Amino acid sequence: MTELSFIHRYEPATDVNRPPLLLLHGTGGDENDLLGLGRTISPGSALLSPRGKILENGMPRFFRRLAEGVFDEEDVKFRANELANFVIEARKAYGLAAPVAMGFSNGANIAAAMLMLRPEVLSGATLLRAMVPLSKAPQADLSGKCVLMISGAMDPIIPADNAKRLAASLSESGAEVQHEVLPTGHNLSQTDLQLLVKWFAEQSL
Ligand code: MLT
Repeated sequence: MTELSFIHRYEPATDVNRPPLLLLHGTGGDENDLLGLGRTISPGSALLSPRGKILENGMPRFFRRLAEGVFDEEDVKFRANELANFVIEARKAYGLAAPVAMGFSNGANIAAAMLMLRPEVLSGATLLRAMVPLSKAPQADLSGKCVLMISGAMDPIIPADNAKRLAASLSESGAEVQHEVLPTGHNLSQTDLQLLVKWFAEQSL
C-alpha cells in the first residue's frame, strides 16, 4: 500500500463512470469495515478507506470527544483539515477525482465537518447516523453538492432534532440534501442499504 499520511486501504475503480468513495468508519472500526458496503452501493467505484487516528480506549475514531455526543471542537477542526489533506494526497497518488464521502456515525460526523470546513475536497456525501459536528461552523458554499443523510428515529445517541439541524444547515449552505429518517436505531438496516444503492445509481445517471 502506498505510504500516505493515514493508514488506509485503496481499491482502484473498475468502472470509471462511478465516483470514487471515501469510506469513513464509526468508533471502534477501521479501514476494512466499509469496503464491502462500498462495493455493494456503488459497484466499480474506486474505494479509499482511511483509519481514524484518534484512539479512545483502543478504539479508532476520527476526532476526540469529551463524552458521547459532546465533541472537542478544536480537535474536530484540526482532524477535518488533516483528513482533507490526506484526500488531496491520495487523489494525487492514485489519480482520483474528488470523492463522495460515505461515513457512518463518527465517520459521518467528520465528513459533515469536512463539508463545512473544506467543501472543495468532497464532491458529495452520504451521512449515516450523523449529528452536528461543530456548534459554530463557517458558512460553506455547498452548491452543486448532493448529500444523502439517513437517520434513525430511535437512535439513542443522536437526538432527532440534532440530525434535522444538520440537514437544515447543509441545505442552507446550498447542498441538495435528501434526509431520510428510518424507524430504527443507531445501527444500519437493510433500508439504509436500499436507499444508498438507489441514491448512488441516481448520481451516476
Ligand atoms: C461521535 O462521537 O462521533 C458520535 O457520538 C457517534 C459515535 O461515534 O458514537
